[in-house]
Amino acid sequence: MSAISSHSGVVPMRAVPLSGQSADKVVFSGVSKTYGSKAASMVAVESFDVTIKAAEIVSILGPTGCGKSTAMNMIAGFEFPSTGAVLLDGKPVTGPGPERAVVFQQAALFPWLSCLENIVLGVKSRGMPRDEYLRRAEQLIAAVRLTGFENHYPYQLSGGMQQRVQIARALISGPEVLLMDEPFGALDSQTRLMMQELVLQLWQEYKPTIIFITHDVAEAVFVSDRVLLMSRRPGRVKLSVEIDEKKPRTQDFISSPRFVELQKQLLTALRAEVGELGGPGQVSLNKATAKTADH
Ligand SMILES: Nc1ncnc2c1ncn2[C@@H]1O[C@H](COP(=O)(O)OP(=O)(O)O)[C@@H](O)[C@H]1O
Ligand SMILES: [Mg+2]
Repeated sequence: MSAISSHSGVVPMRAVPLSGQSADKVVFSGVSKTYGSKAASMVAVESFDVTIKAAEIVSILGPTGCGKSTAMNMIAGFEFPSTGAVLLDGKPVTGPGPERAVVFQQAALFPWLSCLENIVLGVKSRGMPRDEYLRRAEQLIAAVRLTGFENHYPYQLSGGMQQRVQIARALISGPEVLLMDEPFGALDSQTRLMMQELVLQLWQEYKPTIIFITHDVAEAVFVSDRVLLMSRRPGRVKLSVEIDEKKPRTQDFISSPRFVELQKQLLTALRAEVGELGGPGQVSLNKATAKTADH
């Protein structure tokens, strides 16, 4: 299947930088973020310096409340740094834009719209011609394996299928940056693994820059080129680990000694951040401990 083609008025998928362009897609430069007023202020993120290359897959791992979503929201343009700057292609982020798409833990689909209608709603309302959005939707529905479910309503879909609708909806505008905030946190471990493989397949096809937040160490190692471990709040990058396994990856990687070693290294560092036992819901040691819900 070919990648989503460009269309006038729509941002094309452009993973590989054009010549002369910086390959640095997203840069956090000396970023801190403080919420609240002086009397009751709270530093969520501090001394955050991170450079993410075009088409790189970077996971952010860290204890609950350490500022992972805050960091991502500053890339999305939902929040702004208190000090420092967040740059997209070398320019400060001033708000949301179609070249960045966000996938959340909950799909938040419109229950009265079909799978297809949910996927095309955004681009349709932004004026993409019908032929074009239907062509893209068909391609993406096949890519996320929902062919045959186009006319189903969200209540007729499992949690994993709803997440696939959300991913197709995010990709239809051809974003260069895909921001995923614990996208599979509510799925059972079997479905999760399928979704992780799907992310890698979609990357292979569309080559977006992906920033992927997770609690799950194994998930982070499996999907990423690089894993950033954040400290407890105020969140800083405590550890950056390259996952030098070629893509596409298969489940064989998960049982390899290298995978186990990387997982152990990250887990040890994460445990030190979370504290003694970590507490329920804070750290998923591996897929077997992942939260179970629907699929
Ligand atoms: N809009 C907000 N207003 C005030 N405090 C916030 C806001 N968003 C997040 N926080 C606080 O900032 C800290 C980091 O939150 P968040 O980035 O959501 O952490 P994480 O995603 O790592 O769990 C938390 O203590 C959270 O309560
Ligand atoms: Mg969060």
